[in-house]
Amino acid sequence: MIIAGHLLLPDDDRPGHVRLSPGHLRLDGEQIAEVVEGEMPNTCDAGGPDALITPGFIDTHLHLPQFDTIGAHGLPLLEWLDGVTFPAERRWEDTGYARAMTQRVVGQLLAHGTTGICAYATVHHDATHAALQVARDAGLRGVIGQTLIERNAPDFLSRPASQLLDETARLLEAFPSSGRVAAAVTPRFAVTCTAGFMAEMGKLAAEHHAFIQSHLAETVPECELIAELFDGTSYVDVYGNAGLLTPRSVYGHGIYLDEADQRTLAETGTIIAHCPTANSFLRSGTMDRRSHLDHDVRTTLGSDIGGGYERSMVRVGRAMIEAAASFHEREVDTLPNASQVWWQITTGNAEALGWPGGGRLAAGASADVVVVQPNIPWHNSAVDPLERLMWSWDDRWVQRTIARGQTAYPSTG
Ligand code: GUN
Ligand code: ZN
Repeated sequence: MIIAGHLLLPDDDRPGHVRLSPGHLRLDGEQIAEVVEGEMPNTCDAGGPDALITPGFIDTHLHLPQFDTIGAHGLPLLEWLDGVTFPAERRWEDTGYARAMTQRVVGQLLAHGTTGICAYATVHHDATHAALQVARDAGLRGVIGQTLIERNAPDFLSRPASQLLDETARLLEAFPSSGRVAAAVTPRFAVTCTAGFMAEMGKLAAEHHAFIQSHLAETVPECELIAELFDGTSYVDVYGNAGLLTPRSVYGHGIYLDEADQRTLAETGTIIAHCPTANSFLRSGTMDRRSHLDHDVRTTLGSDIGGGYERSMVRVGRAMIEAAASFHEREVDTLPNASQVWWQITTGNAEALGWPGGGRLAAGASADVVVVQPNIPWHNSAVDPLERLMWSWDDRWVQRTIARGQTAYPSTG
């Protein structure tokens, strides 16, 4: 397949940025076979002179069962979990429901240009297995975890640790880390797990070289509860003591952290998934991304649906700029710009996750590509083209999403 347009490429001269170049891609099977710059072919299978060709977006923190509760407003985190989220996740007791919902959700992700995910399912083993299968069949890349809850949640979502360890081990065998879609060790957060349980999870993740995902320091009452449950141990150390801080660990939020915490995260290579839309929607606070970067903490970006309300990673990127502006409003020149947002939601997220050949248009890279047809003049205007596209972004511009070399949106089946 030949795809022509303005190619969004990592800018090798400016790390953390992208650049645009007219040209075309040739896809062969599951890979990008060739990237040709400076030439638009007369005929192509997708794209055209006004198209933007971007790597598929990567959302590094989202909850599959929460897509139908986006918009539940007004409650702080812990009350929102009890009142909105846990009842919604209960519906995944029914594996058929979970499978159908995941199919629907995956369709929405692809329609928004997302081809890579780090996702939470629920505590239900069979439903999580079904979600992994659906994501794999759809051509997505990423990890999905059975959400591990042992305590401090309703009985209908709590399970004995031994059962959850056993079930997670089975998922890790069925969906190993070498696969395009892999199972992840996913303690919901330390509130719902004991220290002993988390230590066993740390061992399991190490044995399987698995991704670990959880939540960290999202709200003040949550941090106070952690201090109570773990005798004043710092939230970061609670995870560290269990062997859960690794370069393949992705923690959502990370708002309330001090310098010692940042040092530990940097030393262990742990990733913080910044979730600006969820942080504002649940009124949790604002994460200071620049402080994390200044302390060498690795950060990615995630939608955190349904605490977050936004399915488009472009708009989550915009929220990242707005969150940064609330900290550094007088330093406009140092706020992330559109080039950095485009890099973060593609190459940056893929590099942090260590996905080889992910998040970039390059020969040999995975053929995860989005063809965007903006209905505005954009590449010949006085405004920077990437700023213009990002700030006027319209999901209807997503004309085609290719995952693993196949057109996954619009759906043909
Ligand atoms: N902390 C524990 N579980 C959750 C969740 O589902 N969403 C968010 N935003 N934070 C959490
Ligand atoms: Zn979350």
